[in-house]
Amino acid sequence: MNNNNRNCIRHPQNLLITGGCGFIGVNFIHYLLSPESGFTGTIVNIDKLTYAAHSNALVELVNPRYIFIYGDICDSILIKDILYKFNIDTICHFAAESHVDRSINNGYPFIQSNINGTFSLLEIVRQYYPSVHFHHISTDEVFGSLEPSDAAFTELAPYAPNNPYSASKASSDHLVRAYAHTYNLSTTMSHSSNNYGLYQHEEKLIPQTIRRLYDKKPIPLYGDGSNIRDWIHVSDHVRAIWTILCYGNTGENYNIGARNEYSNRELLQILCKLYAELTTPAKNDIKSVYNEYLNLITLVPDRPGHDLRYAIDPSKIEKTLYWYPQIPFEAGLKALIVHQVDSYQK
Ligand SMILES: NC(=O)c1ccc[n+]([C@@H]2O[C@H](COP(=O)([O-])OP(=O)(O)OC[C@H]3O[C@@H](n4cnc5c(N)ncnc54)[C@H](O)[C@@H]3O)[C@@H](O)[C@H]2O)c1
Repeated sequence: MNNNNRNCIRHPQNLLITGGCGFIGVNFIHYLLSPESGFTGTIVNIDKLTYAAHSNALVELVNPRYIFIYGDICDSILIKDILYKFNIDTICHFAAESHVDRSINNGYPFIQSNINGTFSLLEIVRQYYPSVHFHHISTDEVFGSLEPSDAAFTELAPYAPNNPYSASKASSDHLVRAYAHTYNLSTTMSHSSNNYGLYQHEEKLIPQTIRRLYDKKPIPLYGDGSNIRDWIHVSDHVRAIWTILCYGNTGENYNIGARNEYSNRELLQILCKLYAELTTPAKNDIKSVYNEYLNLITLVPDRPGHDLRYAIDPSKIEKTLYWYPQIPFEAGLKALIVHQVDSYQK
């Protein structure tokens, strides 16, 4: 059985997306406006356009079903007006400060946007629009760090955040849970593994590495490179979010992942290999080019408190909502390398 044969639990029509100019939000909006999603309603995107925003990715989006509003989710008067004016029935909450390293240098914006911002949204829903459905986007990082032999995180994994970013996300998760429980709000929540794909900020590991390969500059690798991350293509993630919005049971949490676990060292080696294959002229020796790229990998002091391993068990969403990842890891990486290199050459 697939979702085409099932009845939707919800039919979002007027959707408020917070942080829709960020990496995942941009991909979600593009997906919603594509025929594949089947979404026929209106999208209102509120974003405060921090350094992480990709406003260009949506600038050309001239569509009567898409409205952009520049603003902060902490601005409760603005949010209240938006919910009223656009008759919002569903909030999909992406907006957050999202970079762990930045949270280690300065946690304040993380507390403000991730905790206070989520609190502010929930309060408006509770006080004025209690029938609005609230989907909260969270991360596997709230569950802390796994040992190599541990089973992957299920939805029942205990919370154990280890850095200011994950602690702020965990706090926002708890607020969502508490508001659903205490005030009977309609909520769903998802925890995804690390995303990669189009529109990710170049300070993040995969796009940064592709940029460094292009520039032939040293590629930094934290510690001894043994930290393991579990990767999912952003297109698979946004499809999962839409599946949960339409079919997910109210009050449920869903883990989203694609079972692509690699150490950071392995990941950089794969990127070097794919980059060499995709960009080396036929007459040249790919192996020696690959070795040149490997030599760019440079160990740098480890991130303080660096989590050893994250891994998501997506069995629940697969078994109950019939969502499955579709993009094989190397195919997704190849497409990204081609796109990123093309964009530098324009
Ligand atoms: N990127 C990942 O690998 C990943 C994995 C799992 C979960 N997540 C979660 O998904 C969500 C989106 O992540 P992303 O990678 O797209 O983040 P991002 O940093 O690329 O984008 C965040 C967006 O939110 C906006 N924003 C930040 N604070 C705001 C505020 N106070 N008001 C309005 N807009 C604000 C920013 O301008 C930006 O456009 C986050 O909640 C993140 O925790 C991300």
